[in-house]
Amino acid sequence: MPEAPPDSSPTLRVETVDVTYGRALSALRSVSLTVPPATVVALLGANGAGKTTLLRAVSGTLRLHRGAITAGTIRYGDTVLDGGDPVAAVRAGVVQVPEGRRVFAGLSVDENLRSGGLGLSRRTRTAQIQESRDRVFTLFPRLAERTHQAAGLLSGGEQQMLAIGRALMAAPRLLLLDEPSLGLAPQMVQRIAEVIREINAQGTAVLLVEQNAGMALSLADHAHVLEVGETRLEGPAGELARTDAVRRLYLGESAEDQGAA
Ligand SMILES: Nc1ncnc2c1ncn2[C@@H]1O[C@H](COP(=O)(O)OP(=O)(O)OP(=O)(O)O)[C@@H](O)[C@H]1O
Ligand SMILES: [Mg+2]
Repeated sequence: MPEAPPDSSPTLRVETVDVTYGRALSALRSVSLTVPPATVVALLGANGAGKTTLLRAVSGTLRLHRGAITAGTIRYGDTVLDGGDPVAAVRAGVVQVPEGRRVFAGLSVDENLRSGGLGLSRRTRTAQIQESRDRVFTLFPRLAERTHQAAGLLSGGEQQMLAIGRALMAAPRLLLLDEPSLGLAPQMVQRIAEVIREINAQGTAVLLVEQNAGMALSLADHAHVLEVGETRLEGPAGELARTDAVRRLYLGESAEDQGAA
């Protein structure tokens, strides 16, 4: 029987998911979230809220961290994502950029980029790698000037660009970004925001984890706030940015600011 063609514009559906680490540590409880094609969804929350855990569950890297989905389902179009199969996630078009821009410091920029294409099937790999490299170098001209440089010698901002570029090599339809602005100077944060906007404008959906709520809400269509493993708030990004709780807790405004506004 011929294979059914893959769903060309899948939606990510996380439905009432529980995640546990080891035997007992409950990290997410009944979390639901939807990322429609070509949208940006922001995931906010304090340290330890479960943001990274949710990305791991979607990208299939949860099992590497001894975590498991213990209730609920995650689907990307017709593909069921069970938290334990990163290759299946990449083949479905879902790619994560991990927290802390972990590039291979000893490898060159070019080698790092090529490693991002390894999850692709053999059939599509060669052509895809060429096309994706062109896309990455157009987005990040600075990387194009440094293809032979060891990644460990790049600045923090350049390493974040490389980490994003490496993920783009797999031609994702859904990009999972874990705190891309962390530790970067304001100008570089601005640049990363522009890049995310551009990647999205090219048709890639983005699930964006950020502690920089202002940046995330300015990019996102929809946003969720996690609090110790549960959804505290969700809604259109513009509406959430106007709620008192978000302004006070995540946008750094005091009660007096709000009184004055
Ligand atoms: N590999 C692991 N084993 C056990 N517990 C873990 C593991 N990874 C995370 N946790 C726990 O799960 C909870 C959620 O952690 P997670 O890393 O998802 O939070 P986060 O929202 O990404 O936080 P941060 O903003 O600090 O990155 C925390 O209580 C954390 O200690
Ligand atoms: Mg995290």
